[in-house]
Amino acid sequence: MAVGRGKGPRMGLESLKARILRSIKPTDEEIRFATYRANEIIARLKAATPRNVEIVTAGSVARGTQVRGSYDIDIFLLFPRSQDERRMEAEGLAIAKKIVNKRRGESFAIKYAEHPYVKVSFGDDKISADIVPAFKIKDATEIGSAVDRTPLHNEFVNKNLNGRQKDDVRILKAFLKNHEVYGAEAKVRGFSGYLCELLIFNYGSFEGVINAFSKMRLPLIVNVGNKLCIDPKSAEGVALEKQFKSDFVFLDPTDINRNVAASVSQRSIAKLALLSKSMLKKADMKTFSGPKYSTTMSRDRILALQKAMNIDIYLLAFKSDDIADDIVWEQLVKFRNRLGDLLAKNGFSPLQSFQNAGNGTCIIAFLINKSETGSVLLRGPSVFMGDAVNAFSGAHKASFALFLENDRVVSLDKPRYSNAHELLSGLKRNNNVTIPSHLKPASSFLFVNSEIPESYAKLLYEAFESARIRYL
Ligand code: CTP
Repeated sequence: MAVGRGKGPRMGLESLKARILRSIKPTDEEIRFATYRANEIIARLKAATPRNVEIVTAGSVARGTQVRGSYDIDIFLLFPRSQDERRMEAEGLAIAKKIVNKRRGESFAIKYAEHPYVKVSFGDDKISADIVPAFKIKDATEIGSAVDRTPLHNEFVNKNLNGRQKDDVRILKAFLKNHEVYGAEAKVRGFSGYLCELLIFNYGSFEGVINAFSKMRLPLIVNVGNKLCIDPKSAEGVALEKQFKSDFVFLDPTDINRNVAASVSQRSIAKLALLSKSMLKKADMKTFSGPKYSTTMSRDRILALQKAMNIDIYLLAFKSDDIADDIVWEQLVKFRNRLGDLLAKNGFSPLQSFQNAGNGTCIIAFLINKSETGSVLLRGPSVFMGDAVNAFSGAHKASFALFLENDRVVSLDKPRYSNAHELLSGLKRNNNVTIPSHLKPASSFLFVNSEIPESYAKLLYEAFESARIRYL
């Protein structure tokens, strides 16, 4: 296995890691500024918070696992567990909103992950702060809201990861970001920050993670607390796979009833497995940094592809409601799958399909072979099935001809749709197809090949490039 020039694979990765760290570890100046900003917000919060509410920093800033220029300050307001959950949320949000100084150009947005929080921006393009209300708990048995475990995660990471390993978390996060598999959000369904920390703890180092994923076999069930890989065939393994309905389980060391990897898709696991093999084969900056592509003249790029492949590209355009990105993305996934099935059922199986969203605009696109369906053969019942045959012929009055295939009647009919265009252009009028609630068809809805305008082509090209595997 040749890595670098004349060096063994270990040396190659080690010197590469040192180079990477020089560009992704926050500078001293950046850390000083983040600390100053965190302290300044905490001071403001202290003045606005009742004494029984504790204020703590959490997330990657509190753990020293943040990547240069790409993190938020997470500040948790910890309320007594005895309080009602809705009241705790409402009070926490009210406190967070109160500290925002609009006269200084500061602003806030209420965000919803599994739980509401306030994102404060400071009008200076520098690090923003997420202020999150939660319950103060001693251990997971006391959990009252989705984010209560976070301070326990802080404790676990700070107790169990040394400085070198925290740097390895940064390297792993940057590697996954470069290849678009970092983050648990619906669009990515990749590895969250906390899962990266647990992977480094479990496998010891970045190299350990890369080695493990290069040999990955599913199911994989890991009890991170004691670094124990549970045999998936054992009674415990089978029970855990069933409990979490997943073949990729990393039990939270602070809460044995939570799978930290619950939102990681099979595709993300497979992508990291491929990437790991590539890193072991060639540990260089190019493999680490991932593909670079430009989205200028996306329309030309898409049309060149369409012509070279001799296919048709159909693109549907929507405006989306102003709601959480995850909800819009999930609706796009469902609708794309439903349309893909409908196309396939009518003889126009998509070769590939894509979706993307940005600035309130969404697209779904299908790559389909050019084809026309002249007639379809529809199979009816057996003549020995009483009146069923008459019902069938009654329902196929427009049939070109009826035949017998052994004992069954078959009909050569005009197809419902002769081509994919007929099916897709009729969607808005088709009562059997419901367009998801938060997707509003754009006034110009369907575009084929050269009709696709640059702005939609950009979204499609981005989706195409990000889905493509280039490191095989
Ligand atoms: N968290 C969690 N489950 C989630 C999201 C977040 O348990 N689905 C907790 C984790 O403890 C996480 C913390 O909330 O570390 C903060 O989450 P986030 O700000 O999303 O990520 P960071 O870990 O801070 O990583 P990054 O460096 O990307 O900011």
